[in-house]
Amino acid sequence: MTTTAPFLPWNRPSLGSEEEAEVIDTLRSGWLTHGPKATRFEEAVRTDLGVEDAFAVSSCTAALHLALLTVGIKPGDEVITPSLTFCATPNAILQSGGTPVFTEVDPITFNIDPKAVEQAITPKTRAIVVMHYGGHPCDLLAFRKIADDHGLVLIEDAAHALQAWRDGLRAGSVGDLAVFSFYANKVMTTGEGGMIVGRAELVQRARLLGRHGIDTSVWQRHGKRRTADYEVTVPGLKYTMPDITAAVGIQQFQKLPEFTARRSLIAASYDRSLAGLPGLRLPTVLDGVRHGWFLYPVLIEPVGGRTRDTVANLLLDAYGIGTSVHFKPVHRLAAYRYLKCHLPVTEQVAARQLSLPCYPAMTSTDVQRVIDALHAIWS
Ligand SMILES: Cc1ncc(COP(=O)(O)O)c(C=O)c1O
Repeated sequence: MTTTAPFLPWNRPSLGSEEEAEVIDTLRSGWLTHGPKATRFEEAVRTDLGVEDAFAVSSCTAALHLALLTVGIKPGDEVITPSLTFCATPNAILQSGGTPVFTEVDPITFNIDPKAVEQAITPKTRAIVVMHYGGHPCDLLAFRKIADDHGLVLIEDAAHALQAWRDGLRAGSVGDLAVFSFYANKVMTTGEGGMIVGRAELVQRARLLGRHGIDTSVWQRHGKRRTADYEVTVPGLKYTMPDITAAVGIQQFQKLPEFTARRSLIAASYDRSLAGLPGLRLPTVLDGVRHGWFLYPVLIEPVGGRTRDTVANLLLDAYGIGTSVHFKPVHRLAAYRYLKCHLPVTEQVAARQLSLPCYPAMTSTDVQRVIDALHAIWS
C-alpha cells in the first residue's frame, strides 16, 4: 500500500503568535544580542530548576564544550560517557583535549550504567558526562555518589530532559554542571540554542569563557553609567545566545509544562495500543521517574524478516510516517573507530531502536495513524 496522506514528520516544533510577538518586540527594541531577554530566559530556567546559576548559549554543543573547559579538562584526562549518545559530547571532550571513555548502557532505560562507570574509573578519570536518554533520567543519586566518592566532576547532558524527574530530583539539578538543548527537534526550541546551569562559581566561569574571556558583558558595558573599558582575563570563545533567540525561548519555556503533558498523553496512547505486538518492545519507565518524553523509543527484534530498518522503511514508503534512530553508537562512527570498544548492550540496542513520532503538534488522528500503520505492518 502507498499512502496519499500528507507526510507525518518524525518531529515538528510548536510555535505560535506568542513567540512571534516576543521576537518582534526584540527586533524593535534596538538590542539583538545577549542582553535583557537572554537574562530573563536564564532566570526563568534557573528558578524553575532550582539551580544556582544559568547561562544561555548558542547550542548544547557549545554548553558541553564550555562545561568541559570550565572544569579544566586537559590532555591526558579521561571523561566517561556513553557511546549511545549524540556525537556532540565526545566531540566536545576531544576538542577540550580530553579522551572519551565509552561505557555500557542499561538494557532497560538505555541510560549509562552506574556499575559500568565505576569499573571504567582510572587514575586519569576527571569527569563523568551522563545523558538522560530520551527524557528518562539516569540514576542521579547513584552518579552523584560515584562522583563524590571518587572526586570526579559530574556533568549532566540533559539535552533530552528539560522537564523530567527521578527520585524527586529534577534532571539537570544534580550535576556540578548540566546542559540543555533548544535545537529545533527538542522538547522546546529556539531553533538553535542551549543553556549551561549548575554551581554558581562554575557557571560564572563558563559565562566568562563563553564571551571571549571578557570580564563584563556588552549589555553591562552598554549601560549609561558604565565605562566601555574591559579586560580579557582568559582566552575564551564566543558562545552567547542572542536576544532574538532568547525571545523564542522565553515563550517556549512557558509552554513547556503543556508540551510535556501532551507528550505524556501520546506516549500513554502508544503504550495502550501497541502493547502485545510480538517482537516490539515498548519503553519502560522506572519507579520514581517522571519522564520528559522527548523520545518514544521502541526496540524491534529482528524476527521473520522484520527488522528495525524494514519497519522504518515501510512506515515511510507505505504510510508516509517519519521516524528516527537514537543513536548510531559513537564508537562505530569513523572518527571514533580507533577507540576499539566492546559494548554489546549498546550495539544490541542501537541495531533495534526506533523513535516514533511523539510531539505536541501531533493531532489525535496523527497518533492513531502511527498506531494503525504499525498494526498493519505486524498483521
Ligand atoms: C544527547 C544530546 N546531546 C547534545 C546534543 C547537541 O545539541 P545541540 O544541537 O543544541 O548542540 C544533542 C542534539 O541532538 C543530543 O541529542
